[in-house]
Amino acid sequence: MTLHAPLRPGPGDTTDPGRSLDRLLGGPVPSGPTPPRRQTRRRYLMCRPTYFTVEYSINPWMDPTTPVDTALAIRQWETLRQTYLDLGHIVEEIEPLPGLPDMVFAANGATVIDGRALAARFRDPQRAEEAPAYAAWLDRAGFEVHEARYVNEGEGDILLVGDLLLAGTGFRTSHAAHAHLSEVFGRPVITLQLVDPRFYHLDTALCVLDDRTVAYLPEAFSPGSQAVLRRLFPDAVLATAADAAVLGLNAVSDGRHVVLPAQATGLSAALRDRGYDTIGVDLSELRKAGGGPKCCTLVLREREANK
Ligand code: ARG
Repeated sequence: MTLHAPLRPGPGDTTDPGRSLDRLLGGPVPSGPTPPRRQTRRRYLMCRPTYFTVEYSINPWMDPTTPVDTALAIRQWETLRQTYLDLGHIVEEIEPLPGLPDMVFAANGATVIDGRALAARFRDPQRAEEAPAYAAWLDRAGFEVHEARYVNEGEGDILLVGDLLLAGTGFRTSHAAHAHLSEVFGRPVITLQLVDPRFYHLDTALCVLDDRTVAYLPEAFSPGSQAVLRRLFPDAVLATAADAAVLGLNAVSDGRHVVLPAQATGLSAALRDRGYDTIGVDLSELRKAGGGPKCCTLVLREREANK
């Protein structure tokens, strides 16, 4: 396993003078109210919820006294997986491990960009052993794995939009991890302060729709972070409290199709108005642990040949 490898120039590290600030966010805004939406084919990593249950509580959604139907959770997860396959994406699977009921939430396993992976380090001991399992999988799959120095819960709190990294803090991922992220991936990192414990990971409060657009729940962020988001994304889709309360923002977009919780009907309509195709999936069992489609999905971004 390559640990602490020095940052080598890689794709996306070009010093092309045309690579101006607005290109960090996917270039100039196309004209028209609903620019054409283009799909990017993705490679996802998922973990079957074979051992899923709610036996501890590390976020306000988790009540260990609520019964969980693991068989139903598996069927719901299989529907999500099949949805990605039907959209033409590649889905890889990591073997679930007994005693790690939250391992189904693959997004937390690492952050993977340009063929490099920053391993996770979990805040809570109940999830600690997931990090080496994901790091070992990524190493075997040929990714250059960098060891975590600070608490970071992978793509739960770290989201790539265009060439910017949005990084949440406040509940899980530590602020110190944000600077390390910038070193590992050579990209600007925007720190966003989460303030509502129900939206404890960035991916429960904000969804990346494409290289320039996000959807988010303003009140999940501190006033300063709300102002940062308004400056960066004046055209963002603003979610309502009702959308967020069903984890509607925990959605996966390929630039054209947005896979989101079926219960988030208001957000789905808003996204359709903006030219996205929405696909609702019911992950009610996994929501008992505070997770939705995005939590179940880690994006594997390879080194791109000529970027
Ligand atoms: N029960 C898990 C936790 O609290 C849920 C993780 C959800 N994952 C996510 N990417 N938001 O850590």
